[in-house]
Amino acid sequence: MKVESSQRLAAVKPYIFAKIAQKRKLVAARGVDIVDLGRGGPDQPPYGEALEELAVRAADPALYSYTPYTGSPELGQAIEDWYQRRFKAKVSAADVALLPGSKGGLSRLFLALCNPGDLVLLPDPAFPAYVAAATISQLQIHTVPLTAERGWLPELKVIRKDALRRAKLILLNYPNNPTGAMVPPEFITELLDWAEETETLVVWDNAYSFITYGDYQPLSIFSDPRGAELAIEFHTFSKAYAMAGARIAFAAGNSEAIALLRRIELYYQAGIFAPTLAAATVALNEGDEAVAMGLAEYTARRELFSAKLDELDWEHELPGGATYFWLRLPGGRDDLSFCDDLLEKHGVVLTPGSAFGEQGVGYVRASITVSQEKITEAFRRIGEFLA
Ligand SMILES: Cc1ncc(COP(=O)(O)O)c(C=O)c1O
Repeated sequence: MKVESSQRLAAVKPYIFAKIAQKRKLVAARGVDIVDLGRGGPDQPPYGEALEELAVRAADPALYSYTPYTGSPELGQAIEDWYQRRFKAKVSAADVALLPGSKGGLSRLFLALCNPGDLVLLPDPAFPAYVAAATISQLQIHTVPLTAERGWLPELKVIRKDALRRAKLILLNYPNNPTGAMVPPEFITELLDWAEETETLVVWDNAYSFITYGDYQPLSIFSDPRGAELAIEFHTFSKAYAMAGARIAFAAGNSEAIALLRRIELYYQAGIFAPTLAAATVALNEGDEAVAMGLAEYTARRELFSAKLDELDWEHELPGGATYFWLRLPGGRDDLSFCDDLLEKHGVVLTPGSAFGEQGVGYVRASITVSQEKITEAFRRIGEFLA
């Protein structure tokens, strides 16, 4: 029997990450000890009490039924309290959609809000799942370039009028993957002024919310109360709470958009595992200190990473947030062949900037989700490669 891909799936460009994973396997099979600065998931352990909660509940046979798609009242309350405590923002659990990860939630948001042929504004460079999700939903993508000159923030005023008229939404993500950029609080005001003026829904992917450095503070789009009407914000437990494999996230904000997301989720999921709901509740209620400790480790790695780049005279910016260095390659080198050669010859994985869009050509993304020892080892090898 011949089985063919749908047009919508065939239209998605192959994931560069899959190619890298394949190459990584081949190099590792030769006995090379790989240093992987390509991974996006945290290497740090989750908050201990959350882990314990998960383990205890997982031993209870009564907790293996389907759960309500709205989660548990305890988690709803924890989300309200957490928004209040961490962001001074008022969010009602009634306007929250619980998700098995934000990646799937973001893609189903497109399906819930947009018709085939509708236009969405997406940043470039960006988390590749955005383009894939928009393509599968058969949407037209208008890219909003993020450039070094503007500190990797979008220039909203120059978005073409015809695109704006048709745009269903703009999707942005800060602290940013892949550039490591963070926004100042004034940007939220500027963005919501623009959203009000252009009547464009803002989708604010806050995946790395608490991972900010130096003077940058964690921000929610609801830090400006207009966000509750003009935006929806996604949070995940994958990054700051280091629970990526547990698959739990949520979205809050504009009540109509959230109602539509909740509605489509009904057809895609059958609730989240009860022990995961309980662990997430503990993480939100009691995890502030663990999140701060995780951040302290990322901060130390960021400093080490920068010092190592200095030793190589590799010009770079320090990330304001997230877990990535976004590096322009010296001498205008090609990012795809650079990463391929580095992996082949020295067993170090970096992600080519092209994986994140046209604006990423000539850049590489290096992740600080490995230990300080591994960072030191990676730079010993990168030094040899560049010599
Ligand atoms: C910007 C961004 N959004 C969303 C996600 C996905 O998070 P989740 O694990 O909740 O699906 C990632 C993961 O790397 C990410 O970088």
